[in-house]
Amino acid sequence: RLLGTVGAAGAAGLAIGAAGGAVAHASTADDPATALTTVGSTEVMFHGKHQPGITTPLQSRGHLIAFDLAAAAGPAAARKDAIALMRRWSVTASRLMAGKPAADGDTGIALDAGPSSLTVTFGFGRTFFGRTGLAAQRPAALDPLPAFSSDQLDPRRSEGDLWVQIGANDGLVAFHALRAIQKDAGKAARVRWQMNGFNRSPGATAHPMTARNLMGQVDGTRNPKPSEPDFDQRIFVPAEGRPGWMAGGSYAVVRRIRMLLDNWERLSVPEQEQVIGRRKSDGAPLTGGSETTELDLDKTGPDGKLIVADNAHARISAPEQNGGAAMLRRPYSFHDGIAADGTPDAGLLFICWQADPLKGFVPVQRKLDRGDALSTFIHHESSGLFAVPGGPESGEYVGQRLLE
Ligand code: HEM
Repeated sequence: RLLGTVGAAGAAGLAIGAAGGAVAHASTADDPATALTTVGSTEVMFHGKHQPGITTPLQSRGHLIAFDLAAAAGPAAARKDAIALMRRWSVTASRLMAGKPAADGDTGIALDAGPSSLTVTFGFGRTFFGRTGLAAQRPAALDPLPAFSSDQLDPRRSEGDLWVQIGANDGLVAFHALRAIQKDAGKAARVRWQMNGFNRSPGATAHPMTARNLMGQVDGTRNPKPSEPDFDQRIFVPAEGRPGWMAGGSYAVVRRIRMLLDNWERLSVPEQEQVIGRRKSDGAPLTGGSETTELDLDKTGPDGKLIVADNAHARISAPEQNGGAAMLRRPYSFHDGIAADGTPDAGLLFICWQADPLKGFVPVQRKLDRGDALSTFIHHESSGLFAVPGGPESGEYVGQRLLE
């Protein structure tokens, strides 16, 4: 029988328990001609405490798309349009995630495929609140991120009133959702920017493994795990002091980080390993053990020098070095061809999730910005910060508790 589970579909760096909220369809297993594989049949739930696409295992395809609301007659009209849009988007997302066609004028792009772990996640940017007359509801956590000295941000590819993250384990299923979301926007919102990403396909490795990025590093090892007792508190906004509409919500920081791959690939493997503080082959700390062994930050080599260098990325970003700052990194790699200077326009669509950006991304990036060994090989090219409310209950649309 071609039954799927989230684990079999590839945990890809996130150890997900029930929080992943996925089931596999086996309805067609009796008919081998139409039976779906595990990859195609796995469905992630749209309704629930949290929106999908946060603790869901990494998918092999991703699209990020930001919209600005169209100019309306005033905040009340803008809010009315936004309500109608969030309603349309929620209906589309729940249908597509269940493997059904869009309600209105489906394009047929995903015909033949199952849900393929499709997730559609919606967020609100800082500018959304003023435009819709909801400034009083805007959480302080959406205050602009501080400027970092190494930022090279393009404002046209940053921020946005609304943000949609689409992930799926099939390229056509992901694109199908992207087109449906864009069509639903109609005249209510126009695309501000869009980015495409990928990760390894489920089943490409002998067993589910932590993902690799385009520098070849095992990336995601030290992510907080849903099974850890403080996971929810670190990733989802706690009850105390939050606006009610953010119950079950989280904040997403999105950065397009270009990798200077030509320069990176000129380093020897031992030099590359020094930059991170971990082995390239299996992600194990340079201080020994396997991928999941703790880094021994005080250990010195025969020459008396620290084995994990002072400026190693894994040292600087460790929660122990940042007052416990933690985030769930859930990125996609990107490759948009060759830039005008002949170098690959490739890197990481870095997406991290946290209960409070000031206790997650900001303190860590501040430290990395001051002298991380990796910073010579990367450029932060765009930035976005979005409030992602909790998942809707059945019959509700995403953001209903904010908008009504
Ligand atoms: C860890 C790569 C950007 C935060 C790591 C690891 C690698 C890595 C290979 C070690 C394995 C792991 O625990 O996942 C990269 C690359 C980046 C990048 C290639 C850019 C292209 C960032 C940024 C932040 C960040 C911008 C946040 C501001 C972290 C954190 C850890 C980590 C929190 C885990 C540290 C720990 O828990 O001990 N990164 N990283 N990284 N990185 Fe990055």
